[in-house]
Amino acid sequence: MAIHNPPIIRPADDRDALAEAVAALAAGELVGMPTETVYGLAADATNGEAVARIYAAKGRPSFNPLIAHVADLAAAERLVSFDPVSRRLAEAFWPGPLTLVLPKRADAGVSDLATAGLDTLAVRMPSHPAAHALLLAFGRPVAAPSANRSGHVSATTAAHVAADLGSSVSIVLDAGPSHVGVESTIVAMTDSGLVLLRAGGLPREEIEAVAGVRLQVIDLADPEAPTAPGQLASHYAPGAMVRLDVEDVRPGEALLAFGPGLPRGASDAAVTINLSPRGDLIEAAARLFSALRELDGKAATIAVAPIPATGLGEAIVDRLRRAAAPRP
Ligand code: TXA
Ligand code: MG
Repeated sequence: MAIHNPPIIRPADDRDALAEAVAALAAGELVGMPTETVYGLAADATNGEAVARIYAAKGRPSFNPLIAHVADLAAAERLVSFDPVSRRLAEAFWPGPLTLVLPKRADAGVSDLATAGLDTLAVRMPSHPAAHALLLAFGRPVAAPSANRSGHVSATTAAHVAADLGSSVSIVLDAGPSHVGVESTIVAMTDSGLVLLRAGGLPREEIEAVAGVRLQVIDLADPEAPTAPGQLASHYAPGAMVRLDVEDVRPGEALLAFGPGLPRGASDAAVTINLSPRGDLIEAAARLFSALRELDGKAATIAVAPIPATGLGEAIVDRLRRAAAPRP
């Protein structure tokens, strides 16, 4: 008798499907999660390899920071520090289509890959009952970008998710079409006040009424302004110089290695971290930002061994190239 795999699209209100989705998240797998805005491609935000699988599935050649989804305000408080204004916004609009970018707590436990190494974290509490049930049952923050492949439109039905990402997700919880249909509004609390990073499901006027201030908007015509939401907090950049595609390590350099073979002179390195001795790009992506932070400050220069620019390697190399670029 042929063995039939269960269909990956399952009703979100089916208890067994919910339990399977929780088990998939716990195992580091990806789940299609309905939310009121759009469907999310969900993974355990505390598990770097699970987060790496999100980027691999989306086929995006760079690491964009992700939103951590939580079931309640208490869970958000464990991840970020609220100031009085952002707390007022959370109390007024959560659960709902508002994402807040706030200082990440040192003990947040969220993978560095999920924030692309930034010290801030985007958090959101979805109002969709299926998302709430999943987040509550899982009990950990869930990283979830919109569930579409890079360059495709955001998915607003389970069928869209399965068509775009079916081979990468273990299960898609089907709760019908997302009723908001556009992504959440993203607001960041910065040193210079509240900034609107992305217009979305919650109108800015409503946010301004509660905050009691106007939202600053990034002027895309301003060459000094950040050009994409993820760039606002500026990318994490190590203080050390970064040298790429190194085949000969110079004495005293910090070595960022990859794969079973080491470059010549590796034994003269001040310190070595291998992103993945077995040459696994998922594992390497999961370790990238914490490795950069650890090597930074241990030597004036970080020497990076060659990393294949295929699959997730493309995003890893993109990130390292930015780290190696001359500083202003
Ligand atoms: O409605 C939504 O927000 C959906 C559902 C699934 O929740 N999610 C979503 O995620 O749209 P995504 O990854 O497609 O968009 C998140 C945006 C990105 O543009 C990213 O750059 C920005 O949030 N972002 C995340 N963390 C950030 C941070 N720490 N600082 C600045 N921008 C950040
Ligand atoms: Mg998106």
